[in-house]
Amino acid sequence: MRILVTGARGKVGAATVHTLLRAGHDVTAVDRLPPVYERAGPVRYIQADLTDAGHAAAVLPGHDAVVHAAAIPSPVKNPPHEIFQTNLMATYHTLEAAERSGVGRFVHLSSETVPGFSYPKRYFHAQYVPIDELHPVAPQDTYALSKWFGEQLMDAAVARSDVTAVSVRPTWVQWEGNIERNVGPIVRARGEDKSASFWSYVVVDDLAELLTTAATADITGHEVVYAAAADNANGLPLHDLVRRHFGDAVRLRPVPRADASGISCVKADKLLGWAPLRSWRDLLDAEGQLLPPVRDRLDAGNTAVQRGLAAMG
Ligand SMILES: NC(=O)c1ccc[n+]([C@@H]2O[C@H](COP(=O)([O-])OP(=O)(O)OC[C@H]3O[C@@H](n4cnc5c(N)ncnc54)[C@H](O)[C@@H]3O)[C@@H](O)[C@H]2O)c1
Repeated sequence: MRILVTGARGKVGAATVHTLLRAGHDVTAVDRLPPVYERAGPVRYIQADLTDAGHAAAVLPGHDAVVHAAAIPSPVKNPPHEIFQTNLMATYHTLEAAERSGVGRFVHLSSETVPGFSYPKRYFHAQYVPIDELHPVAPQDTYALSKWFGEQLMDAAVARSDVTAVSVRPTWVQWEGNIERNVGPIVRARGEDKSASFWSYVVVDDLAELLTTAATADITGHEVVYAAAADNANGLPLHDLVRRHFGDAVRLRPVPRADASGISCVKADKLLGWAPLRSWRDLLDAEGQLLPPVRDRLDAGNTAVQRGLAAMG
């Protein structure tokens, strides 16, 4: 299939470019970062700012599917109005252009933050664990709102057109280049740190495989699915951790394994046949340091993120 990846120079986009290429797809990569004006690699790279309707209209035609990863991926490092404007308008214009140019599938990078308890101004927490797609949604912060409104744009588009959509809500995305910094301290804290997402994370290679499946699977309408690793970042029993940090305030639901993730991916499995294969234990040792073969892979530029970036030239 001819698949366009937006936000292709970011970690999710680059790993997805690599995974799509490996699966034999014809990939176009789009990002607002400048290209290298040299001989092209195996992937067409186009610089476009998707908050501009004209840029979106120029790059969407000729594709069967789009994986829309372009966004500001955090609520805390940019002014809120810029996050809202970038995330919502980039999604709006990319979706409008997809609809007008007959792109059949829109894969929307939403976020685990949509229910609202990751960055609330007034504290609240999840009602039950593991969190799933049926959990009530009440976001307060601009980033989560931009992602939730994005999901609503998908609902509207599938209602009025032949576009079909999958919103994927990844939890905290890790790869060889950031997991030691992000997950390492959690491993070393041995369960002492509290976490709104119940210590969830996902390895980018698993996420890229889910996005590839979401771009090509035979589904109708608009579906929302979470993406998380099977285990939690502590490697400790989930129910014990939740009891220790949240008392009786969070309802415990059955888990498939004692050290389960705080986010359930049962729906992605049922709908798309996707299950996460990778754990932090494949990348880090018991002290939260990168395992030597993983460091070698990173130093050699041989990770999915780096190979995706290299393919764009
Ligand atoms: N990183 C995470 O933990 C996480 C978790 C949940 C959801 N997500 C979502 O996944 C997606 C990808 O996140 P990431 O971690 O790869 O982020 P990233 O910052 O690594 O990559 C995002 C890319 O989008 C590009 N971009 C931003 N605005 C753009 C615009 N207007 N036009 C074109 N390109 C633009 C950036 O230049 C960047 O290369 C985002 O939608 C993010 O909100 C990320």
